[in-house]
Amino acid sequence: MKVRNILLLALPALSSAYPGMMGASKEEIDAMLIEKRFEEEKRDPQIIAPILGSLLGTIRGLLGSVASAVDLNNKRPEPGFEFRAPGPGDSRGPCPGLNLLANHGYLPRNGKVTFGQVVQATARGFNMGADLATVLATFAVLTDGDIVNESFYLGSPPGKVGGLNRHSTVETDVSVHREDYYNGCGDNHHLSSRLWKQNVAIVARSQSKLFDMENMAQQYAANARFSQINNPYLYYFPFPMIVSLGAFAFYPNFFSNGTYGAGGVPNYESVSSIVGAEYDDRTREFKYVPERFPPNWYRRAVPYTAANALADGYLRIYPKYPLVPGVAQLGGPNFSVQTVLCDAYQGIQSIIPLLLANDVENVAAKITWAQSKITGLLGGTVLGCDRDTLSPTVPFFPNATRTGGPLGTPSAQVSNIGDNVYGKVYFRNAPTRPQCNPSQN
Ligand code: HEM
Repeated sequence: MKVRNILLLALPALSSAYPGMMGASKEEIDAMLIEKRFEEEKRDPQIIAPILGSLLGTIRGLLGSVASAVDLNNKRPEPGFEFRAPGPGDSRGPCPGLNLLANHGYLPRNGKVTFGQVVQATARGFNMGADLATVLATFAVLTDGDIVNESFYLGSPPGKVGGLNRHSTVETDVSVHREDYYNGCGDNHHLSSRLWKQNVAIVARSQSKLFDMENMAQQYAANARFSQINNPYLYYFPFPMIVSLGAFAFYPNFFSNGTYGAGGVPNYESVSSIVGAEYDDRTREFKYVPERFPPNWYRRAVPYTAANALADGYLRIYPKYPLVPGVAQLGGPNFSVQTVLCDAYQGIQSIIPLLLANDVENVAAKITWAQSKITGLLGGTVLGCDRDTLSPTVPFFPNATRTGGPLGTPSAQVSNIGDNVYGKVYFRNAPTRPQCNPSQN
C-alpha cells in the first residue's frame, strides 16, 4: 500500500486528534498527517518503522543523480579544502552553509570569521551573490559580532554572549530544521531530528522526490503553523523573517547538485550531507553530524542574489502560511521585493538599540559602520530606498521588552546555548513546551 494511502486511512482519527484540521488547507492537512505518522511510529515501532525505511528508500533512489550540464570548475570541494570535523572549541551554530564552509577550510576552522572572509567564502563555496552575503554578514557583525574587527562567531563565542546562536537577531524562530529558541529552551542551533523527518516525509510523498521549492514551502507551512500554535513567544521581525524565509529557498538554490532551475538536483544525498543529517537504523532517528560536501558535487554556476532570495522567500515560500510581521506594505499595493529590502535597510536603525542602548558613542559608530556597508547596495539609486525615512523612532519592534521579545528574551538553559555538539540526536519529539532537559529531547 502506498504511504499516501496509509496516511489517508488515518484521516478520520486525525480530525479528532487535530481539531484545527477542519477547514485546513491541503498542505496543512498533509503536514499534520505526517506529524501523526511519526507519532505513531514512536508508539509502535514494530508496525510503522518499515514505512520510514520505505520513505527513505524512495528518495534514496535518487542517489548519485548529478546535474546534466556541469562545469568542472564548479566542483566542490576544491583540492586543499578537504573536510575535517570541528574539534573542541571550534565554534559552530545554526547556519549549515557557514558551518560547512568552516569544516572544509573555506572559512577559519575555529569558527571566528570576518566580514570579508564570509563574503569571499560564500561566493567560492556556494556562489552566493555578494549583495546577499553582504546583507547577511552586515547584520551578523552588527547584532552578533564585533565591528572593530568586523567579525563574528558561527556559534557561541567564548563567554557565551553573541555569535550566530544569539536569538532574535539574525537567528530566528520558524527555522527549517532548528527548533524555536523558547520551546527548545535555548537550543536553536542543533539539527532537529523530528523537523528533518518531517521534511523527508514531505519530500518522499511528493511527485518530485526532491527538496525543491514546493516541498520546502510545505515544510515552512508546517513549521510556521507549529510555532504559531505552540510558541507563546514567537516573534517575527522583518530582518530575521527575511533570513528565515530565505533559508527555506536556500535548500534548492544552494544545496542542489548543479544549478537549480538549470538541471541541478536538490536530492536527498546532497541535502542530507550538507545539513549533516545521518539516519541511524538502530534508533530510527537522525543524528546530527558535521556538515560536509557530498561526493561528486557541483555548486550552482551563477550567483544567487538578495533579490532572488527575497523573490523566492516572499512569493514562493511565505504565501503558504503568512505570519504577520512588521512589514507594513504586506497585503497592500506597495508590497514588493524592493519595499521589503528597504524595510531591512531601515531596520538597521531599530536593531541598534538592542545592542548598545546605553552607549551612545558606540551606537553611532555601529550605525555608521552598517550604513557604510549597506547603503551602496540598497540605499540611494540601486533600489531607490529612501534614506530620509531612517529613524530611530520607527516602531519596528513593538513590545520589544516583553519576555520573549528582543530586549527580554526568555530564560534558557545554559547547557543549551553553547556551540554545536555533533554525533547526537536532538528533538525526537516536537517540543510543544520548553524542553530544558536534554534527556527529554
Ligand atoms: C553570508 C553570511 C551568512 C550568515 C550571517 C548566515 C546566518 C544564518 C543564521 C543566523 C541562520 C539561522 C537562521 C534561523 O534561525 O532560522 C542561518 C540559517 C541558514 N543558513 Fe545561513 N548565513 C549565511 C550564509 C549562508 C550560506 C552561504 C548558506 C548556504 C549555502 C546558508 C544557508 C542557511 C540555511 C539553509 C539555513 C537554515 C538552517 C535550518 O534551519 O535548517 N547561509 N544562517
